[in-house]
Amino acid sequence: MGPLRLCLCLYQLVLTFAWQGSSGPISIFVDEAFRYDVYVRGVVWLQNGRVTLQCGGISLASDKPNALLINNKTSEVEGIDERLGRWHGIQTSWKAAAKVQESVCGGGITTTIRQYVDQPDAAAFEFVTQVDALVALAGTGICTSTCFNVSTGFPSLDLPGKGANVGFVSWNGMMLSSTFQHSLPPADWGTWLAGIYGGPLVLYSADAGVVLGSSSNFKDGMLVNTSRLQSRAAQMEEVSEVLGVTGGVQGMVQQLPANYSLRFALVSCQRAPCGVTGAMLNFGSFLRRGRQKLSLAEDVLSSRLHYLTDGGSLETYCDYWPMCEKSHGGPGCTPQGEVFKQLDAYHRSIGLHIGVYHVDPYWFYETEVCNGAVDAHQWTASPFHFPKGIQDVGVPMMLFLQSFESTSVYNTSFRFEGGSVCGSDSRRFFREIFGKMYATGFFKAITLDGVADVWLSSALRLMSVGEQQMYDEGLAHAAFELGLPIRIDRAFPSDILASTQYGARTVHRCTTDQDPWTAIQAGLYRDLGGNALLVRAMGARPMVDVLWTVSNQTDPRWGTKGVCKPNVLHDIISAVLSTGPVGFGDRLNRTNVSLLSRATRADGIILKPASAALRLDRFYDAHRGGAEIWAAPTEPGTSDPRTDSVANSMAALESASSPDALRGWMILATNVDGGVSGAPVATSELWPPPAEDAQFLVAQLEHRSPSQLRPPCSNGSLVADCLFRWSFKSPLPVATGDTSFLPGCVSHNFTLLSAAPVLANGWALLGDLRQFVPVSPQRFAREVAVAGEDPGDLSFRVLGVPGEVVPVSVATPAQSILVLDVHVGQDGTASVRCRNLRCVQGDLRPSFFELTLQGTLYT
Ligand SMILES: *[C@@H]1O[C@H](CO)[C@@H](O)[C@H](O)[C@H]1NC(C)=O
Ligand SMILES: *[C@@H]1O[C@H](CO)[C@@H](O)[C@H](O)[C@H]1NC(C)=O
Ligand SMILES: *[C@@H]1O[C@H](CO)[C@@H](O)[C@H](O)[C@H]1NC(C)=O
Ligand SMILES: *[C@@H]1O[C@H](CO)[C@@H](O)[C@H](O)[C@H]1NC(C)=O
Ligand SMILES: *[C@@H]1O[C@H](CO)[C@@H](O)[C@H](O)[C@H]1NC(C)=O
Ligand SMILES: *[C@@H]1O[C@H](CO)[C@@H](O)[C@H](O)[C@H]1NC(C)=O
Ligand SMILES: *[C@@H]1O[C@H](CO)[C@@H](O)[C@H](O)[C@H]1NC(C)=O
Ligand SMILES: *[C@@H]1O[C@H](CO)[C@@H](O)[C@H](O)[C@H]1NC(C)=O
Ligand SMILES: *[C@@H]1O[C@H](CO)[C@@H](O)[C@H](O)[C@H]1NC(C)=O
Ligand SMILES: *[C@@H]1O[C@H](CO)[C@@H](O)[C@H](O)[C@H]1NC(C)=O
Repeated sequence: MGPLRLCLCLYQLVLTFAWQGSSGPISIFVDEAFRYDVYVRGVVWLQNGRVTLQCGGISLASDKPNALLINNKTSEVEGIDERLGRWHGIQTSWKAAAKVQESVCGGGITTTIRQYVDQPDAAAFEFVTQVDALVALAGTGICTSTCFNVSTGFPSLDLPGKGANVGFVSWNGMMLSSTFQHSLPPADWGTWLAGIYGGPLVLYSADAGVVLGSSSNFKDGMLVNTSRLQSRAAQMEEVSEVLGVTGGVQGMVQQLPANYSLRFALVSCQRAPCGVTGAMLNFGSFLRRGRQKLSLAEDVLSSRLHYLTDGGSLETYCDYWPMCEKSHGGPGCTPQGEVFKQLDAYHRSIGLHIGVYHVDPYWFYETEVCNGAVDAHQWTASPFHFPKGIQDVGVPMMLFLQSFESTSVYNTSFRFEGGSVCGSDSRRFFREIFGKMYATGFFKAITLDGVADVWLSSALRLMSVGEQQMYDEGLAHAAFELGLPIRIDRAFPSDILASTQYGARTVHRCTTDQDPWTAIQAGLYRDLGGNALLVRAMGARPMVDVLWTVSNQTDPRWGTKGVCKPNVLHDIISAVLSTGPVGFGDRLNRTNVSLLSRATRADGIILKPASAALRLDRFYDAHRGGAEIWAAPTEPGTSDPRTDSVANSMAALESASSPDALRGWMILATNVDGGVSGAPVATSELWPPPAEDAQFLVAQLEHRSPSQLRPPCSNGSLVADCLFRWSFKSPLPVATGDTSFLPGCVSHNFTLLSAAPVLANGWALLGDLRQFVPVSPQRFAREVAVAGEDPGDLSFRVLGVPGEVVPVSVATPAQSILVLDVHVGQDGTASVRCRNLRCVQGDLRPSFFELTLQGTLYT
């Protein structure tokens, strides 16, 4: 730090700063001319900050003479944002030089750098551009035509040079495939793809991570890569190209209304360490602050097992009944409604509780013909598939929505723009069509596909600021009012950022259709690994698609294409650890209930970790073939997911401080070899990192790897015989062998580990080791302390279905395993307390207390 400080001091001597803001590792220096530089831990990362404005094809910039002029003196300002709290900062307003001003640019803009001071965990700044209030532009607003071509650029900065040794991670493209991009320090900036399909930019070095991204008007604001020519003052002939990043309204925008404002946030963590994961979680929590989402308890799609008829399911009318496509309902073309009735009877007969049945766009087709269309003529039950309406089938349903035909039945009462209703009519329209289906009593969730396609379906959606946002908002609010969770399929990163604003958007799909073909099956987990951080940071649940519970489900109705589905176990573990929906698409009569039971309670509630599994930062650092190691924190919650982020499986991880003594971890290592990718996992690689003195006992729950590392524990086993010890000093072995390079239909090698924290008194709650997540907050809750009662050395509540028997394992201070069959009571809980090498269960608080007092059993 010494030499870096010195460097900053010298810098300060040369320039007079109008303002300096520092928070966490970030410092921003701004001079009187409103040039700004961003330092991270004393090293300049982003520099030569300027302001740019384009009007009618003329580019103006604050660093070009006689172009964009300071109108008002740069001054310090402060304020309170209703969501984000107090800020202080620096502001300047700008006007175009006189001759261009008259012709194209009616007015000016004001730019502000804000530093937020009430953020407990995030080090957060915003760059705010505001169009002058006086410039009332001629256009009459949404869904109408144009004014002049405008674009703004603030912030606009040079990207880190090689000396700063900074790498990047970003996302670009459609979320159903890999959108992940990265470059190792020092980054090759020529490989960064930005623009309207792009998302936030994470910059990282060995000791810090920061995120720059849009923080308002997500469908207008974007980051672009820029380049500018720089000549050295002394030798004007020597010109070099400098690559930069600029945030502004995307280039299709035609007009900025008076008072329009656009924001970009620059966020890191207050406390070190803060890598890619920590910085993104803090960026997301900054965007999410003060926003609300349907909780897990309110979200049938995410909380319970569901059945899917998406591509890759064996009971999808259009995919797996190809002869129906042309034969107009020939023999065997069973309507989906009848198939659902059979599936429902089968699922009940094997004791499965299905939260919702998904159905693809043909649910609204007017005939039995599969035409592949996603545009609805009428968004109501298909007369072929559901002749008596969806209510006649009697199963809860998740309905597909994408876009509408231009000649749809709604085209006289509502204004349409491209593929769907216009922004200003959106809320009224979706209230009407959702309300109508909701009245059936069986419409429980929405698959919203093609969000990105609808956006691109009309020039006006791209060109008018706020148009797509108003459409998205109307749709999401109509769903939220009815408590309907929305799963989003085809979307760009900007849509995921936008989802922070909408309470009903709980799920974003991260992988392509799960068709059982070799090429698809080989890489799905890597797409989940690359996309999950973006989705989770924004408060949504990452989703994998259709699971199978049995890999061999060949069906005579199919063609001769070879089926490849070799990873059913790894797929379901990934789905459970994602904290997103767990949905399967087996053929009728072909479901492995015992596999599903490892993911759920007896009532179909999915036993998730406390937050989504995310890659360790080491996998953002380099291309490591097929290797992935994911970690997901898990711990007992309170029983109420409406108020508790852990029980909601959305634990507030942004804070690196005060790690919880009860927090354990799920680790899934896939295709890791003995090299760097498979090096043992240090506790310091987790986010947030546990305390240095934390000790864990680790059970190996599943493995497909040449070496079985530890056998399963049973009642009376010794800790040393069936568990690993994991601590700051002793990293966790994870190597599995790597099969990803093998040709053909190959199964992944992997290991699933569950790490339980050891309390200071020597006890550890290992949980129900039959489950994929042994200590899920949907299964375990913290015991509430009751005054005057002895809490025992370890106490917890078991949640479940009345009468359910849950074998709970604990490790005792005597280094042995104790298994207790816990009987869930009529209120859905059971209380357990442990002391002196034994545990008691049931409503035993008073007697436990007495026994303790008498000192007979517990001394
Ligand atoms: C800029 O100065 C003008 C007067 O010269 C004043 O009316 C206006 O409010 C100022 N704007 C800002 C953003 O300070
Ligand atoms: C612009 O914003 C100011 C203050 O926020 C408000 O008083 C004014 O009415 C707004 N003007 C327009 C045209 O929206
Ligand atoms: C705005 O830009 C588009 C695309 O570059 C161009 O076709 C159009 O003529 C421009 N409009 C005006 C008013 O300059
Ligand atoms: C931005 O990056 C893309 C892809 O790397 C490149 O083709 C394009 O020229 C870059 N744009 C600028 C302005 O440098
Ligand atoms: C509405 O649909 C009818 C046919 O159903 C079509 O004739 C008409 O042009 C459509 N109107 C609009 C505004 O697209
Ligand atoms: C799948 O099962 C069918 C019949 O049940 C059998 O003919 C086929 O060989 C099996 N395929 C594989 C890959 O096990
Ligand atoms: C499924 O099982 C039921 C009950 O055993 C049987 O009646 C039915 O024919 C089976 N259907 C198929 C498609 O296997
Ligand atoms: C069903 O799942 C269980 C539990 O994972 C497994 O042991 C069993 O082999 C599976 N059966 C089939 C037929 O796949
Ligand atoms: C993958 O694991 C299997 C055991 O399940 C083992 O036979 C095989 O050698 C492993 N492959 C590699 C490449 O390590
Ligand atoms: C485990 O062993 C203890 C005694 O060693 C016994 O009290 C307990 O009932 C056993 N648990 C189960 C589930 O059998």
